[in-house]
Amino acid sequence: MTAQILDGKALGQKLRADFRQRAERLASQDARPGLAVILVGDDPASQVYVRNKVDACAQTGFYSERHVYSANVEAQTVFARIAELNADPKIHGILVQLPLPRHFDADAVLEAIAPDKDVDGFRAENLGALTRGRPCFIPCTPHGVMKFFEEAGIPIKGREAVVVGRSNIVGKPMALLLMHAGATVTVCHSQTRDLKAHCRRADILVVAVGKAKMITGDMIKPGAVVIDVGMNRLEDGKLCGDVDFASAKDLAAFITPVPGGVGPMTITMLLANTLESAERAANAGANLWRS
Ligand code: GUN
Repeated sequence: MTAQILDGKALGQKLRADFRQRAERLASQDARPGLAVILVGDDPASQVYVRNKVDACAQTGFYSERHVYSANVEAQTVFARIAELNADPKIHGILVQLPLPRHFDADAVLEAIAPDKDVDGFRAENLGALTRGRPCFIPCTPHGVMKFFEEAGIPIKGREAVVVGRSNIVGKPMALLLMHAGATVTVCHSQTRDLKAHCRRADILVVAVGKAKMITGDMIKPGAVVIDVGMNRLEDGKLCGDVDFASAKDLAAFITPVPGGVGPMTITMLLANTLESAERAANAGANLWRS
């Protein structure tokens, strides 16, 4: 079997064409969707992610601002900027690129974002709503993964799903979304005994660890859906995922490539959340939350 590729670039482009039209409709009411991105420090990967997010805004007809600070900036300066952005009607989404430098209390920074502009969905209140299955901003990466399933008609109900990685950004919300969709979910992490045995049971395997090629073909159940959230840079400068694509693609039924899989969908869902926030602001009073 050779896996069907889940192409995040193509699906992202398709969704963004609709977002562009909706953005233009809002712009004609003087309510163009606006995203502010805050970057602290000079992590090269974060710089690339932030540039891609800002570029995606421009290509989709969104307004965006980038606020960049050196790693030794006073936390107070960042909090003051967030307060300004919270009050700015041009801005419908605020994203603080993670990780922050060590001297920052990242939770405190995320909690400073106004709940209705928390387009990353990282505030505790938002994650609480997600846990309860209530309407909320769904964190962008797991949201993008769910879009792949929806688009490819991949059934979830009753299936065994294994999530490798328990981060607040991906692993935990991913597990919740799969659980709400009817999967039986196992979350594996650095203390898991016999990772291979868990992975081999998975009809749906989502890997978000940050270790190049750690999941090899012998860990994959034939016919599985394999979602690779990893983005690692090899010594030769090439990008690769957490899954060894070469050995996995002959076993999986569906697989995401790296690059070009989950990455573009994360940005697409950031645009989706920002657009939703802008539409809510423009229709204040109307309930536009997803059911
Ligand atoms: N760092 C890695 N992924 C993300 C993300 O989705 N959002 C933010 N804010 N930071 C990240």
